[in-house]
Amino acid sequence: MKNRLSKLILAAVILIGMQTFAQEAQHIPEVEALLKKMTLEEKIGQLNLLTPGGGVATGSVVSKNVEEKIKAGNVGGLFGVTGPDKIRQAQEIAVKNTRLGIPLLIGSDIIHGYKTTFPIPLGLSSSWDMELIEKTAQIAAKEATADGINWNFSPMVDIARDPRWGRISEGAGEDPYLGSAIAKAMVTGYQQQDLTEENTMISTVKHFALYGASEGGRDYNTTDMSRVKMFNEYLPPYKAAIDAGAESVMSSFNDVDGVPASGNKWLLTDLLREQWGFEGFVVSDYTSVNEMIAHGLGDLQAVSALSINAGLDMDMVGEGFLTTLKKSVDEGKVSEATITNACRRILEAKYKLGLFEDPYKYSDSKRPERDILTAANKEVAREAARKSFVLLKNENKTLPLAKTAKIALVGPLANNKNNMLGTWAPTGDPQLSTPILEGLKNVAPNAEISYAKGANISNDSAFAKKINVFGPRIEISEATPEALLAEALANAKTADVVVAVVGEASEMSGESSSRTDITIPESQKTLIQELVKTGKPVVLVLMSGRPLDITEELALPVSILQVWHPGIEAGNAVADVLFGDHNPSGKLTASWPQNVGQIPVYHSMKTTGRPAPSTEFQKFKSQYLDAVNAPALAFGYGLSYTTFEYSNLKLSSKSIGQNEDVTVMVDVTNTGAYDGEEVVQLYLHDVVRSITPPMRTLKGFHKVFIKKGETKTVTLTLKAEDLKFYNGSLEFISEPGEFEVFVGGDSNAALKETFTLN
Ligand code: BGC
Repeated sequence: MKNRLSKLILAAVILIGMQTFAQEAQHIPEVEALLKKMTLEEKIGQLNLLTPGGGVATGSVVSKNVEEKIKAGNVGGLFGVTGPDKIRQAQEIAVKNTRLGIPLLIGSDIIHGYKTTFPIPLGLSSSWDMELIEKTAQIAAKEATADGINWNFSPMVDIARDPRWGRISEGAGEDPYLGSAIAKAMVTGYQQQDLTEENTMISTVKHFALYGASEGGRDYNTTDMSRVKMFNEYLPPYKAAIDAGAESVMSSFNDVDGVPASGNKWLLTDLLREQWGFEGFVVSDYTSVNEMIAHGLGDLQAVSALSINAGLDMDMVGEGFLTTLKKSVDEGKVSEATITNACRRILEAKYKLGLFEDPYKYSDSKRPERDILTAANKEVAREAARKSFVLLKNENKTLPLAKTAKIALVGPLANNKNNMLGTWAPTGDPQLSTPILEGLKNVAPNAEISYAKGANISNDSAFAKKINVFGPRIEISEATPEALLAEALANAKTADVVVAVVGEASEMSGESSSRTDITIPESQKTLIQELVKTGKPVVLVLMSGRPLDITEELALPVSILQVWHPGIEAGNAVADVLFGDHNPSGKLTASWPQNVGQIPVYHSMKTTGRPAPSTEFQKFKSQYLDAVNAPALAFGYGLSYTTFEYSNLKLSSKSIGQNEDVTVMVDVTNTGAYDGEEVVQLYLHDVVRSITPPMRTLKGFHKVFIKKGETKTVTLTLKAEDLKFYNGSLEFISEPGEFEVFVGGDSNAALKETFTLN
C-alpha cells in the first residue's frame, strides 16, 4: 500500500514537473534570461506605451519628456512616430541609453492603408473579396514597415448593428461569419507567415470586446448583453483573429457585465487566455485604464492594479502603470509575478519581431521611396475601391454612362480632396487623392463635363466646426445656398445626365462621430430634389461612413452608387464604374434602415413568438404602426449592370450525421448584357433548437465571375461546425433536427432546400 502511494506521489510529481517544464519550454530562453536581469522598475517601464503628441504628421520623438522617459527605461513602446530616421533615433535612445538596451515597439493605426489609402473598412468589406482584403493589409504592412512601424492597431472587428455609431465605418459590418473571414484575412495580411521579415508587422485585434454594441450608438457608451448573444454574435471575429495568429489584442473603452474591458478579468484572462489560448500581449485603448476612474471603479492606483491583475499588459498613454504599480507591489496589491508575466509578453513580441537581433531593422531610409505609394500599390487601391462600391439603384438603366456623354457633375463631394480618404486615415495625405471630377476626366477624356458645387455638405457652421477638427472637411461657401443651387441647376438643364456626388464628410463617421439623424444633410437633400425636378436622369454617387437612412432618395427616380469614402484613387475608381469599365459587384455588409427608429435592424434577427405577417399590419404582432420590419436595403444586397438568376439548388445529402458536412450546389446564370461578378450567399435557418434561432444567418459565400449568357455551378460547403451554436450553457454544439438552406444574391435569398441532422 505504502509502496503504491509513493509511486502515485512520484508520478504526480513527475507530471507536475513535466507540466511546468512544458509551460516553461514555450517561453523564449533569451527573454527569460533578460527577465532575470531586470529590476521591478525596468519591468514596469516595459508596460508603458507613449505617444509623443502633435499628431502623426508632426509628432516628434525627441520631444523632451518622452526622450527622458525612454532614457530612464520607462517606455516599452511608442506610437504616432513615423519615418525610418526618426524611429532609428528613438531606438538609439532606448538601446544606447538604458541599462539593458531593450528596443521599442513602434505602433500606429493603419486602418485602411498607410499612405496608399484604401476604402474605409466598411467599404472594403462590401467587396466580399478575402484575397483582395488580405492584399490591402499586406500592402499597408509593407508601406508602414518601410516607414519604421512594427506594430499595427488593426483590424477593428467589432460587430456593429447600429449605424448611428460612427465607428461602424471602421469594421466589417453586422455579421460574425463574414466578420471572422475578414478578421483572418487582415491578420494574415499584416503578419504573413514570418514576423521577422522586414515587411510584416504585429497585428492587434480590437476593441476587445463588444465595443460595437455601445448603447444608443453613442461612442464610448456602456454595453450589456447576454453571454449567449456575446458568444454567438459578437465574439467570433475576435476569436478568428486570434486563431489566425494575431499577436496582440486591444481592450475596449466600454464595460462588459459592468466591468470596463481594460479591467475585466473574465474577458482578458478567463476567456482570452484560458479558453482561447491567446499567448500574445494585451494593450489598453487610449487612456482606458485611467478612464476607469470616471467609470466609477476607484482611483488611479486602484484601476491600474485592477487592470494588470485582470490581464492587461500594456498601458496606452495614461501612465497609471508607470506611476502606481510599484506602490501596489509594495502594498501587496499586485504580485511581482504578475508584472513579470506582462513584461514577458511584451518582450516576447519584440523578440518575435527580431528587434533584439536588430533594433534598426525597420529603419532603412531607402525603403520609403521604394515601397510607399508605388504605382502597383495605387493600382490595388483603385481595384479595392471599385470593388467596394455598391450599386443600390439603377433607374432606367442610366448606368453605365457613355464616355461621350454631356455630364453635369455637381455636389459638395464632386471636386473635393479633403474627404476622399475617409475616417482613420491619419497616415494618408488627402491632397494626394484623386477627386471625382479629375477621375471622370482621366477615364473619359471625350465626355463633356461641367462642374458646380451645388450645395454645401451642411449649411450649419456649428456642426461644421465639430467635423473640422482634423482639417477642413465641411467648407461652407461664401456664395449663398440659393446661388450654389442655381449654378448646378443651370448646368443640369443643358446636360444629358446629372452626376451628383453627395453624402457625408469623412469625419461625420469614425471615432466620436455618432449621429442620431443619419439622413443626407438637408442642404444636399434640397439639391437632389431640385435636380430631379429638371427631368434629367440623375445619378447619386453617395459617400458615407455608415449605412444611411435614404428612404426619401430611394423613392425618387434616381440611380444610386454607394462609394463609401473610397481612398486615394477615389475619382479614378468612381469613373471606372460610372463608365462601365468595371461592373459593380459590392454587396452591403450592414443593413440600411428605413429610419433610425428601426435600429437595430439586421438580417439575423429572430422570429419572436409573434412574427409579423409579410403583407399587412395585424394587431398583436411584432411590428411597428408606422414602418415595416424589413430594412430599406438588406444585408448582402447590391446590384450589377447585369442580372443573375439562381436555379437548381441541390444538397449532397438530405440527411446527415453529426460531424458530417453538406455540399450545396447552385447554378448561377448571367442573364444580362455585361460580364460580371456575383457574391453567391448561403444562409441557414436552424428550424428547432434549444435557444431561439435567427430567422436566417450567413454561413457561406463565394464570389464568382460569370460572362454574359454563361451559367456556372457554384459549390459551397456547410461544415459540421457551421451548424453549431453556443447553447444556454455556452457549449458549442449542434442539435439534431431540420435545417433550411437559402441561397441567392442577398439575405432575402428565396431558393430553399432542407436537410436533417440526425
Ligand atoms: C481608438 C483606438 C486607437 C487608439 C490609438 C483610440 O482612441 O479607440 O482604435 O487604436 O486610439 O490611436
